[in-house]
Amino acid sequence: MRVLVIGVGNMGSTYVRCLLNSHFTSSEQLFLFDKKALPSQAIKHVSPQNVLTEPSKEISTADIIMLAVKPQDFAELSAQIAPFLNSNQIVLSIMAGVKIAEISNLLNVPKVVRAMPNLPAQIGMGMTVFSSASGLDKSELLTIQNLLNTTGKTIYVENEELLNVATAISGSGPAYVFYFMNEMISKAMELGFRKAEAELMVTQTFLGAVHLLGNNDLSCSEWIAKVASKGGTTEAALKSFSENTMHHSISSGVQAAFNRAVELGK
Ligand SMILES: NC(=O)c1ccc[n+]([C@@H]2O[C@H](COP(=O)([O-])OP(=O)(O)OC[C@H]3O[C@@H](n4cnc5c(N)ncnc54)[C@H](OP(=O)(O)O)[C@@H]3O)[C@@H](O)[C@H]2O)c1
Repeated sequence: MRVLVIGVGNMGSTYVRCLLNSHFTSSEQLFLFDKKALPSQAIKHVSPQNVLTEPSKEISTADIIMLAVKPQDFAELSAQIAPFLNSNQIVLSIMAGVKIAEISNLLNVPKVVRAMPNLPAQIGMGMTVFSSASGLDKSELLTIQNLLNTTGKTIYVENEELLNVATAISGSGPAYVFYFMNEMISKAMELGFRKAEAELMVTQTFLGAVHLLGNNDLSCSEWIAKVASKGGTTEAALKSFSENTMHHSISSGVQAAFNRAVELGK
C-alpha cells in the first residue's frame, strides 16, 4: 500500500511513526511531502528518494493520500496537487472543519475520507471519528479504518455532521481532562503536597479510574456510587460540585466547542 503524507508536522509525523511501527506500510512505500525541509528525525525511517520537496508525478502513484496540513493551507495545496491526482486514489483528510464536498470539489476526486483524530494519537491512544464520501466501497473503508487504527480506536459515522460533535468531545476532550487535573494538582499543592507528589497522585487517580471503567460493565454513575459513601468525603465534594452547577459548566463548555466547530466549518 503506497501512502503519501502531505504536511509532516505534529499530526503528520505521528501517522508516519504509527504507519511504520504497525507495518501498515513500509519505508519504501511511504512518501512524504512538506513545503519546508523536514527535520532528520521526521524522515529517518523513510527512503530518502520518497521525501518529496515539491509536488511531482510520485503523487499519482500513491494509493492513499493523507492531507495533514492546516485548514488555511488547503486552498494553496489543492491547486498544487490536483493535477497529479486520479479518481482511483483515496484522499484522507485530517484537517479540522474542511468538509468532504469541499475537498472533493477542489481536488476533483470522488474517494474522500474525513477524519477527526485527537492528540493521544501520538502515543497510539488516540480516538478518531471518520466519515466518507459515497465513492468508497466497503473494502476501501476497511483499509482506511485499519490505517486510522494504527493511532488508537476509531468510529465510522455516515453522517459527516457528527464530526463536529467528535471535535467537541474527543478532539478537544484531552484539554478538558488536563484542565480538571490541573485544578486537582493545584489544590493538592495548596493543601500541603509537593508538585511532583501532587502530579503523581492526580495522574495515577485518573489512570486508575479510566482503567476501572474500561475493565467491566459498570457505568460512571455506578462507579461514583461505589466511591461515595453516605455522609463521607466524596459525597461532600459531589454536593459542592452540584451546588456550583458543575454539570452545567461542563455541558455548556462542550456545547461552546461544538458551536465553534460548526461555525469554523462554514
Ligand atoms: N494537532 C491536533 O491535535 C489535531 C487534531 C485533529 C486534527 N488536526 C488537524 O491536523 C492538521 C495538521 O495539524 P498539525 O498540528 O500537525 O499542523 P502543523 O504541525 O502545522 O503541520 C502542518 C505541516 O504542513 C506543512 N504545509 C503547509 N502547507 C503546505 C503545502 N502547501 N504543501 C506541503 N506542506 C505544507 C506545514 O509547513 P509550515 O509549518 O511551513 O506551514 C507543516 O509542516 C490540521 O489541519 C489540524 O486541523 C490536528
